[in-house]
Amino acid sequence: MKFFVDTAEIDAIAELNELGIVDGVTTNPSLIKKSGRDILEVTREIADLVDGPVSAEVVATEADAMIAEGRKLATIAENIAIKLPLTWDGLKACKTLSSEGHMINVTLCFSANQALLAAKAGATFISPFIGRLDDINLDGMQLIADIRQIYDNYGFETEILAASIRTVNHVSEAARIGADVMTAPPEVIRKLAQHPLTDKGLDQFLKDAEAAGIRIV
Ligand code: E4P
Repeated sequence: MKFFVDTAEIDAIAELNELGIVDGVTTNPSLIKKSGRDILEVTREIADLVDGPVSAEVVATEADAMIAEGRKLATIAENIAIKLPLTWDGLKACKTLSSEGHMINVTLCFSANQALLAAKAGATFISPFIGRLDDINLDGMQLIADIRQIYDNYGFETEILAASIRTVNHVSEAARIGADVMTAPPEVIRKLAQHPLTDKGLDQFLKDAEAAGIRIV
């Protein structure tokens, strides 16, 4: 499973990137707003920092304007994935821009039928939003499973990018189902390393090491 970081905060991306666990980055207009940075400037910095795909989202709503914005975003760096919302116009823009050879991340996916359309329009990634479905008492993880089955039934190569991940359980469940990629905020990625039994066990080992006078270097 590939790990993308869902943020536009350079320091957080750099820290995780040093660990070698960052396969890409996703941003959206809300994350750009939170960073307080200019979209073109911060996206360029992120794309320089990581080797994998960096999703940058258009803000136009009509296909022609989305295509123009997508082409501009793609000039930032070779590893830009143009992020388009799952609307009819977004699908038209997806078809055009993917035919030109650009990576496309179709975002705001909330149904299996939407995912089917995105794959047929040539999306590189489909982003089903798990957390936002859970927020309204629907089953985000079931959507990941449905899309996995449909894509496998027909051999679609569009990668399932589990998005809107809020908990560590979302990560392991999406991995179990076979999502190709997950994108999560840095704090959720850091939490993946935590377990109370690890802390408890280490505490005991350190006490025993001290009592035994163990010194290694
Ligand atoms: C990723 O591409 C999405 O923009 C992001 O995961 C949305 O997450 P949220 O629902 O927590 O805002």
